[in-house]
Amino acid sequence: MNETTACAVVLGIETSCDDTAVAIVERGRTIHANVVASQTEIHRQWGGVVPEAACRAHLESILPVLEEALARADMQLTDIDAVAVTTQPGLIGALLIGIASARALAWSLGVPLVGVDHLEAHIEANLLAFPELEPPFVAMVVSGGHSEIYLYEGLGRTKLLGRTRDDAAGEAFDKGAAMLGLAYPGGPSIAKAAQRGDPRAVRFPRALWTPRTSLEMSFSGLKTALLYRLKGVGTRRGGNGPVAELSETEVADLAASYQEAIVEVLCEKARRAVRGSGVGRLAVGGGVACNRRLRALLGEAAEKDGFELYIATPALCTDNAAMIASLGWKNLQAGRSVGYDQRANARLLRT
Ligand code: KG4
Ligand code: ZN
Repeated sequence: MNETTACAVVLGIETSCDDTAVAIVERGRTIHANVVASQTEIHRQWGGVVPEAACRAHLESILPVLEEALARADMQLTDIDAVAVTTQPGLIGALLIGIASARALAWSLGVPLVGVDHLEAHIEANLLAFPELEPPFVAMVVSGGHSEIYLYEGLGRTKLLGRTRDDAAGEAFDKGAAMLGLAYPGGPSIAKAAQRGDPRAVRFPRALWTPRTSLEMSFSGLKTALLYRLKGVGTRRGGNGPVAELSETEVADLAASYQEAIVEVLCEKARRAVRGSGVGRLAVGGGVACNRRLRALLGEAAEKDGFELYIATPALCTDNAAMIASLGWKNLQAGRSVGYDQRANARLLRT
């Protein structure tokens, strides 16, 4: 056994976007602590993530979050066998704060440092939550920055099957909510408003529905459709006027119809991918996987089509460091991406 495969307790650090997260996970299985400091309140005033503000908040939060994780796990720094950190993709400054912290920590403790891909980690969250889940399976990652469907065949073996051509599903939720005057982050706000609305009130477009085999997605036209609707384009009011004042019922109906357009597309594309791959298993991760309507539609599809559906609890769907520590442990076992010279990559590399 070499130095890295002997590591059991991994401390994970995640700072790729607007959550400062530290977790302690043993052997990619047992979560001893999973602490997330959300920056939602900071970014709410701008209606989206401001990179400079995110970096500042990461700097302020990283040490308190680390201390909180150790306290919850009832561990000392000397109990940590290795440090894992998100290196890509994400906001470059935000990633660098996590990497610099992880590097300093690992180096001072004399333990290995391992780099982790954030999207692979969203898939890993399901393997952590469901020990019975075995590859191969179809994995859909739907978050604020990504909407992708993969065939997951094992560690480091992911084949991209389909992706959005423009906006991510989470971005469509966030921008749509801003147009409707609902609070950031938009996903939970739209989902809440939608509870009182009629999903059939407005027929929004489902882009790239055809050809029936397409696994590509597009959400930017949907955003425009909502904007035009709000400005009265193509209605009897006619023009490209100012956004109308909306009643609570109108907001609820628009939110429900808009949500339906997004989740129906996600469900249909996931379904096609499972059918086409023949693997019979679907795992869904990322913040949008918290959406109850999406979970319900996927549940119905799984029953109808006869595939197994895996969606972790909301705490493991949104950004967290437990998935980073878990995947970090697996990377260590495989001798993958280990070293103090971790670099930040803003972009998705595996395309
Ligand atoms: O995975 P995540 O925490 O961060 C990224 O890696 O982007 O995902 C955040 C995204 C946001 O766009 C947020 O609006 C969306 O997930 N989200 C939801 C829900 N909860 C969070 N979207 C729809 N319904 C929800 N309940
Ligand atoms: Zn994420």
